[in-house]
Amino acid sequence: MLQQFDERNRDLIVSVGGKLTHRDEAGVSPFDSAVQGGDAVWEGLRLHHGRIFRLTEHLARLRRSARALAFASVPSDEEIVAEISRTLAANGMTDGVHIRLTLTRGVKITSGMDPRLNQAGPTLIVLPEFKAPVYDATGITLITSSVRRPPPDSLDPKIHHNNLLPSILAKIEANVAGADDAIMLDHRGFLAETNATHIFFLTGQASGPVLCTPTASACPEGITRDAVLDLAAKAGLDCAVGDYSLTQLYNAGEVFVTGTMGGIAPVTKIDGRVIGAGAAGPVTGRLTALLADLAATTGTLVCDLGAAAAGGDVTASGSREGREYVRPLP
Ligand SMILES: Cc1ncc(COP(=O)(O)O)c(C=O)c1O
Repeated sequence: MLQQFDERNRDLIVSVGGKLTHRDEAGVSPFDSAVQGGDAVWEGLRLHHGRIFRLTEHLARLRRSARALAFASVPSDEEIVAEISRTLAANGMTDGVHIRLTLTRGVKITSGMDPRLNQAGPTLIVLPEFKAPVYDATGITLITSSVRRPPPDSLDPKIHHNNLLPSILAKIEANVAGADDAIMLDHRGFLAETNATHIFFLTGQASGPVLCTPTASACPEGITRDAVLDLAAKAGLDCAVGDYSLTQLYNAGEVFVTGTMGGIAPVTKIDGRVIGAGAAGPVTGRLTALLADLAATTGTLVCDLGAAAAGGDVTASGSREGREYVRPLP
């Protein structure tokens, strides 16, 4: 699965440090910490019908991450939400949008890793794009990467940081193998997650199926992971969180991955082994429907739906009208 350019995103307006700019003119300073050392935290958000799913939880994770990295002068939730709303309004966006929200330590007075060189406060970047869930809903294939997820005493996954090189190295291995994504193990050899998503599997216990997922000791505390555990428990499915090995995954009745970017995606093959019946299983299908319903009916309102409708929302054909922003002449 290789994402393609979406024509609706050609003239995106992005917010960098409070400035709304066309995507071709937007810039981050070469002195910014994200450029200097990947010194930034981020969240992926999904906008459905004017609402962002689990926005409070995403902002809390962003804040915990920024606090762990000792960022100074982090903007309030209200300020962040206002900037998200402003950027969405500038794009006339209300639905079907993925937002990459980044908070860097900010611009340094000179290049160097020392956080004391940051004297201007953090840089907030709001990048919204029209983007459907990125995985093939009929199923994806995985291989196991040689790259491990680090333990908390190396780089704590509870910090949702921008140091994505381990994930990128794992993704390169998946690309070379012709797979969609790569499973990453923790430093002890137990399942952690994939390069971009959390992983779940269904065991066929004598006492009934159990939905299992690794602990969050070597993967982020996933927002979708939490939602799926919640939905599964409410649907009467037994759930377990623990240390699991690849062998358990190969022998599972169903496997799926979760994340904000792709929702729930069934996994049909891992390291050449066909999983279950080799197609999306019934439990995966049920949870996918429950999550879609939850995302469509809950969330924090961040758009003025009345104004968007009056100003020209996204049309079915994907064109936009009535936008506030005019691209500056070169
Ligand atoms: C490494 C990693 N794993 C999994 C996920 C999925 O987590 P969530 O459901 O919070 O989007 C993300 C999302 O940002 C991630 O960065």
